[in-house]
Amino acid sequence: MVENMDEDYEKMRNTDKVLKLEEEISKNIDELTSANRRLRKKIFDLYTIFEISRHLNSVLDTDSLLDGILLTIIGQMGVSGCAIFTVDKDGKALTIAKSRGLTLSKVKTSHIPLDSRLFQATDEKRSTAYNIIELEKKFPECKKEIELLKSIDCSLVIPMTLKNKIRGLLVVTERMAHTPFFEDDKDFLAILANQLSVAIENARLFESEKEAYYQLAKAQRQLVETEKLAALGQLSARVAHEVNNPLGIMKNYLEIISQNAGSFGKLDNYVGILREEVNRIAAIVRQLLDFYHPRSVEKSEVNLSNVIDELIVLVSVQMESNQIELKKNYPPDMPCVWASSEQLKQVFLNLIMNSRDFMPDGGEIIITGREENGSVVLDFADSGTGIEEKELSKVFDPFYTTKKDGTGTGLGLSVCYGIVQNHGGSISVKNRPEGGAQFTVSLPVYHAR
Ligand SMILES: Nc1ncnc2c1ncn2[C@@H]1O[C@H](COP(=O)(O)OP(=O)(O)OP(=O)(O)O)[C@@H](O)[C@H]1O
Ligand SMILES: [Mg+2]
Repeated sequence: MVENMDEDYEKMRNTDKVLKLEEEISKNIDELTSANRRLRKKIFDLYTIFEISRHLNSVLDTDSLLDGILLTIIGQMGVSGCAIFTVDKDGKALTIAKSRGLTLSKVKTSHIPLDSRLFQATDEKRSTAYNIIELEKKFPECKKEIELLKSIDCSLVIPMTLKNKIRGLLVVTERMAHTPFFEDDKDFLAILANQLSVAIENARLFESEKEAYYQLAKAQRQLVETEKLAALGQLSARVAHEVNNPLGIMKNYLEIISQNAGSFGKLDNYVGILREEVNRIAAIVRQLLDFYHPRSVEKSEVNLSNVIDELIVLVSVQMESNQIELKKNYPPDMPCVWASSEQLKQVFLNLIMNSRDFMPDGGEIIITGREENGSVVLDFADSGTGIEEKELSKVFDPFYTTKKDGTGTGLGLSVCYGIVQNHGGSISVKNRPEGGAQFTVSLPVYHAR
């Protein structure tokens, strides 16, 4: 009997042991499963970061770069929205550069000053994720900034730091499932913000290098152009001078012949034709001289709005008969320039007449004026044929013309060029994307002492 009891007891103890063991094993399995899940998530996060880094290094266009990041965050974190703030042009504040899934209409102020206390207290070495509620408690003095972030339902704030400087801000909303962010998530976002700040800096450097290269190429092209026109001008002026003297002599003798031709029938007629042709040559020579060295004329303080207004009145009937609409797009009080209003009228008239000539079926001429970097800039844009791209650099050359019927001397624009240069300004041409040509005249603003 006693023996049986002992056996039963032993069995119970074993069952108990087995149960405990089972419980422990199950607990271990649970822990391992959740560790495995975390590990798998971490591997996925790391893989995502790896893929993003690869992508970031190959994308230099900031806009698509930011958009790609935002979409990745939404997918990976299960948040409803996120935004990236970057440093504005003045380098003084952060503004929203790109956002996804946020209602920005609620935003009252859209910028956060870079010297905000909010950033002074964040980690300077690396990007770190902060909870908005913690930040709010910690920095009551940053009420405005926090309010902005809260107005876009921000939950986590990750200042993007590079070389001890704030380069931007990454913000994410709550998760759609309302589950909290774990440390792993915060680490993921912090790494992403770090990568992002490097990529943004790369894109910025690339953009500024591209701009510098573009400016350099433009300056070089302009220099070549100016040199070419100066050389052409010099040559033209010399030829004009040489032609001018014999022309004067021819004119004098023509007068003498004409005075004595009365008794020789048709001769008078011939002399008339000769005189006309000589006058035509004289006009061309005058234009050539104007191109290189416009006559020194009286200059005064000139209001460009008035000059163009007067010109428009002068040509309006002609334009109407050619079915051309002249559109004024300049303020009445453009700054004054120091100029000969007659010569400027000649420039603008040449430009308007050219537009008319290259708009056979009518169209519009839009004259736009504005002040830009100490100059008055005028655009004469038309809706005509435009100019072949490869011919653009030739239009200011003397004698360059595409008028087939021999009606053009090809000197109109050379004269414009000479006059504008003589006024310390510049003239350039380009085709409009919507069709037609656009000439831009820029003249230095005159500041009366
Ligand atoms: N608004 C324009 N649209 C299209 N092409 C233009 C325009 N303005 C100028 N051009 C081109 O530039 C060339 C040179 O113009 P420029 O005024 O110097 O001479 P032109 O008009 O041909 O001759 P002229 O001025 O003696 O009548 C023109 O023949 C034309 O090819
Ligand atoms: Mg012309």
